[in-house]
Amino acid sequence: MPVNLKGRSLLTLLDFTPLEIKYLIDLARDLKAKKRAGICEPTLKGKNVVLLFEKTSTRTRCAFEVACFDEGAHVTFLDSNSSQMGKKESLEDTAKVLGRFYDGIEYRGFDQRVVELLAKHAGVPVFNGLTDDFHPTQMIADMMTIEEKFGKLKGLNFTYMGDARNNMGNSLMVACSKLGLNFTACAPKELFPKEDLVAQCKQIASENDCTITLTDDVKTGTTNADIIYTDIWVSMGEPEEVWESRIKMLSKYQVNSDVMKNANKDAIFMHCLPSFHDTNTTVAKDIEKKFGLKEMEVTDEVFLSRQSVVFDEAENRMHSIKAILVATMS
Ligand code: CP
Ligand code: NVA
Repeated sequence: MPVNLKGRSLLTLLDFTPLEIKYLIDLARDLKAKKRAGICEPTLKGKNVVLLFEKTSTRTRCAFEVACFDEGAHVTFLDSNSSQMGKKESLEDTAKVLGRFYDGIEYRGFDQRVVELLAKHAGVPVFNGLTDDFHPTQMIADMMTIEEKFGKLKGLNFTYMGDARNNMGNSLMVACSKLGLNFTACAPKELFPKEDLVAQCKQIASENDCTITLTDDVKTGTTNADIIYTDIWVSMGEPEEVWESRIKMLSKYQVNSDVMKNANKDAIFMHCLPSFHDTNTTVAKDIEKKFGLKEMEVTDEVFLSRQSVVFDEAENRMHSIKAILVATMS
């Protein structure tokens, strides 16, 4: 059956079939090639998209904006201080109003239920630009990048190291199980993904000939890996006080040259970014002062190595978000 995503919201990849996800990846690859060739087709001319950001962003916001501009759409950006949403006006009423003005709504915030509520009441596609639970637009870029590097997805061994129950750990486990990659969460037991999501992903994985493994052993978790992926140890919205315990729990899960040597020879390193691989940020400087760490989830050496594909991955955020908009709104 042909894929038709018109009018669909993207709240979590759990709602999408493998075929639909592959359709988005293929479209993103085509749109990337067109942009490289200087071919511009304003398929979203006359459309308007509102970007609601209750957390900060570089990639996701800019990807949505550039994707809209390239396709001839207009955007409005609202941060958490510049609308009535949730403070003087309910989410339901806000969704109904924005749905009258706009052809699509992007939301980045905390509770997954907010983006679900917006989608329920807006009457137009809603795109989850990251919540505490999921980061689905990132998944299209990540899987697209892996396919670019290996020429396939099915059968690859994917290892995620770090906080495996955050939005990235959850989303990558879902994406791998849908697309046939063997997913390993390599993390302390306290930071394993929630049991119900693991059970759901194991069921999906069994339908797509792949596996889900949880281990707290770094050697086991990274042996034979084709992709080593990590994320920051403390996510947006978490209190500063958790840094100390997170550093204690996660230091041995740092992606360093030993980890990369233990993985497959042609393994790649991935990270959604931003990353604390040096002390060139105010947060990292503060951590260095408090805990004496100069690098956190990944060493500078690995981050800057030939195996690292993080900036290709970042670029693909824009092409893949463009694909999501074109598929659902054009
Ligand atoms: N990866 C990602 O979502 O980056 P931003 O927080 O900069 O949007
Ligand atoms: N887990 C990170 C992802 C950032 C893209 C966070 O939520 O801050």
